[in-house]
Amino acid sequence: MRLLVTGGAGFIGSNFILYWLKQYPQDKIINFDKLTYAGNLENLEEIEKNPSYTFIQGDICDARQVDSAMKGIDVVAHFAAESHVDRSIMEPASFVMTNTAGTQVLLDAAVKNKVKKFHHVSTDEVYGSLDLNNLSKFNEQTLYDPRSPYSASKAGSDHLVRAYHATFGLPITITNCSNNFGPYQFPEKLIPLAITNILEGKKVPVYGDGLYVRDWLYVEDHCRAIDLVLQKGKIGETYCVGGLTEDINNLAIIKKILSLLGKDEEFIEFVKDRPGHDRRYAVDWSKIKNELGWEPAHNFDEWLEKTIEWYKTHVSWWKRVKSGEYQEYYKKQYNMLQ
Ligand code: NAD
Ligand code: TYD
Repeated sequence: MRLLVTGGAGFIGSNFILYWLKQYPQDKIINFDKLTYAGNLENLEEIEKNPSYTFIQGDICDARQVDSAMKGIDVVAHFAAESHVDRSIMEPASFVMTNTAGTQVLLDAAVKNKVKKFHHVSTDEVYGSLDLNNLSKFNEQTLYDPRSPYSASKAGSDHLVRAYHATFGLPITITNCSNNFGPYQFPEKLIPLAITNILEGKKVPVYGDGLYVRDWLYVEDHCRAIDLVLQKGKIGETYCVGGLTEDINNLAIIKKILSLLGKDEEFIEFVKDRPGHDRRYAVDWSKIKNELGWEPAHNFDEWLEKTIEWYKTHVSWWKRVKSGEYQEYYKKQYNMLQ
């Protein structure tokens, strides 16, 4: 099988490629990635010479590049996106361009080249925000209610993917997954930002009251879910994917990280809140469990500890990532929240 992975140099895409080549060494993978600030080929060093793996630097918004990469492809796994909510507040346009318009360019090329399956990797954030202190969860029937430019641009992409199935008969599947954590996550996101700041002796910025809740999933469990949906998912269907945690808020996570690193709560710094901050996410993943037999295999506490170990043993990876453009971004973002 020839698999086109978009955004394969990012956090989840690179974990997915490493996972896939271990599971299915006979398959060919083409990684199509623009290498934005979030794309990093170092993530894929261990397989860069593998003859089953090819890298193409390209932009999903460029129809010519996309059409040429799509030739002879059986299956597309579409990860490429602008993925950080705070950046989407600073600069919404690139989110609409890449996440919404870029997905449409890919869909056109997939129809034209008659791919056998187009899998779209999406987020639970399209469903909006849940209240604290109740047990409600998102599921596949939840109405879309995106509240950030990031989630709105992903919602637009989900609608386009379904429209291409209904209108052009493109064989699609979608996963809407909760917050991932694990190796190679860019340190603009909460968990790697907290770990690497503490390792550098810096404080961790906590937005608002810190009582915001996310549903956390270890990245390999997400890769397994996408694998199952690609192999056995019903064409045209959407599957919600989420983790094992009971509600755990940001402050509690940061306290866990501090305690695992032997540091006290002086490292916590409350800052202004993110505008439009979604209060709580929680995902009901019973459909993918009942229909495809998926469930998370990694519990939060154990794999948070392993993730911290990974960042402790990959200091040169994140030090490089945190230099250059990152410094500019960090200053702009966190000066705004003082
Ligand atoms: P990431 O920001 O780490 O990586 C995104 C990758 O896409 C980068 O390699 C980047 O270079 C590439 N890219 C960006 N714009 C591109 C373009 N125009 N053309 C080609 N490549 C481009 O993101 P991630 O956290 O790995 O997320 C991957 C996907 O999973 C996204 O679609 C995201 O919406 C979705 N998702 C992420 C999470 C999460 O917790 N991180 C949860 C659910 C769903
Ligand atoms: P993030 O990792 O940006 O993911 P998302 O907003 O897509 O869920 O943020 C996770 C939670 O952590 C969210 O409630 C915002 C909060 N947060 C902070 O409190 N401080 C930070 O510096 C960051 C990056 C996030």
